[in-house]
Amino acid sequence: MYDLTLPFIFSQIAMFIAMGFDFLSLQFKKREYTFLCLIVSASLISSHYFLLNKTAAGVIVFISVLRFITCYFTTNKKYLFIFIGLNTVSLFFTYKDITDLIIYIGLIIFIIGNFQKDNRLMRKLMMGGTAIIAIYNAIIFSPMGVITEVSFLVSGVIGYYRYYIKNNFYNKVKRFVISSFKKVNDSNGIKHLLRTVHWVKKLKPSADEVLLIAAVAHDIERAFRDHKNYNFIKNSDKGFKSEEHLTHHQTEGARIIGDYLKQIGASEDMINNIKILVSRHEIGGSEEENLLKDADSLSFFENNINHFVNNKIAETGKEKVKDKFDWMFNRISSLKAKELAQPFYDKAIKELGF
Ligand SMILES: [Fe+2]
Ligand SMILES: [Fe+2]
Repeated sequence: MYDLTLPFIFSQIAMFIAMGFDFLSLQFKKREYTFLCLIVSASLISSHYFLLNKTAAGVIVFISVLRFITCYFTTNKKYLFIFIGLNTVSLFFTYKDITDLIIYIGLIIFIIGNFQKDNRLMRKLMMGGTAIIAIYNAIIFSPMGVITEVSFLVSGVIGYYRYYIKNNFYNKVKRFVISSFKKVNDSNGIKHLLRTVHWVKKLKPSADEVLLIAAVAHDIERAFRDHKNYNFIKNSDKGFKSEEHLTHHQTEGARIIGDYLKQIGASEDMINNIKILVSRHEIGGSEEENLLKDADSLSFFENNINHFVNNKIAETGKEKVKDKFDWMFNRISSLKAKELAQPFYDKAIKELGF
């Protein structure tokens, strides 16, 4: 039994505060805040071991402090391998029985999670790893260990539910977009929007919710289009590039999706950012606006060519359709997107008979 000496009391207080920060960490959506909390909690846990003169345990936990600091700044996989290496070496020197393998596997899954750019995947892997570590603590019969891991797991489940199930604005917007296009019998529009999301992810795997929502909703105006906008296209020499048409298409789209997002309780910030992206998706500007514009072009060439060749030529004439194809291709900003679009574009021009 420990006497109630000052180091012992401090060690227990440190552990208690650490549990609080552990719990808090997964309640933040930004990965930087998550890792700040984990840096604080792991530092406290490490100090708690030093206060109890458990130097080896203190050092092991201190390595995880270094890992969390690294993760705060980067997800570079080079560092992931360094930390996996460190854990493997320590397993090699300390291995006693099969249970050591269980905590090793749990830790490795947890560490792989730490280095994920995709916040969802990061959380899933960290929860998976934590569950295995909790099982390890149960096997070696460490009730406090089980309580600590389970409380972190509960925080993970709550955080995941809060951010990705309850407030899954992307899924809600997607459903709204699909039902709006179904009402006007435009299945092609649905396909175009879903594939725009695909191309956004292809061009930027770490695309956030704002960008994905803007991608799935960017042409929402088409589902609510009135004759005024069709006439802009028909009557202007510029056809699909008519400024009135493009301005109307973008600003109306931004308004419609903004109203819907407000209705489902999205934050002011989120609404504004999505509205800016939708209101500039045809012309681009910022890095994210250009990315959406490029993905839009790619999805257009992939899915809309037949529709334009079969229907739009009769409506607007061949020249205006060719003009649209050229414009959709030439506006692409990134080299990668241009390379991806080139074969689609060549095929489209061939189908037009040019
Ligand atoms: Fe558009
Ligand atoms: Fe589009």
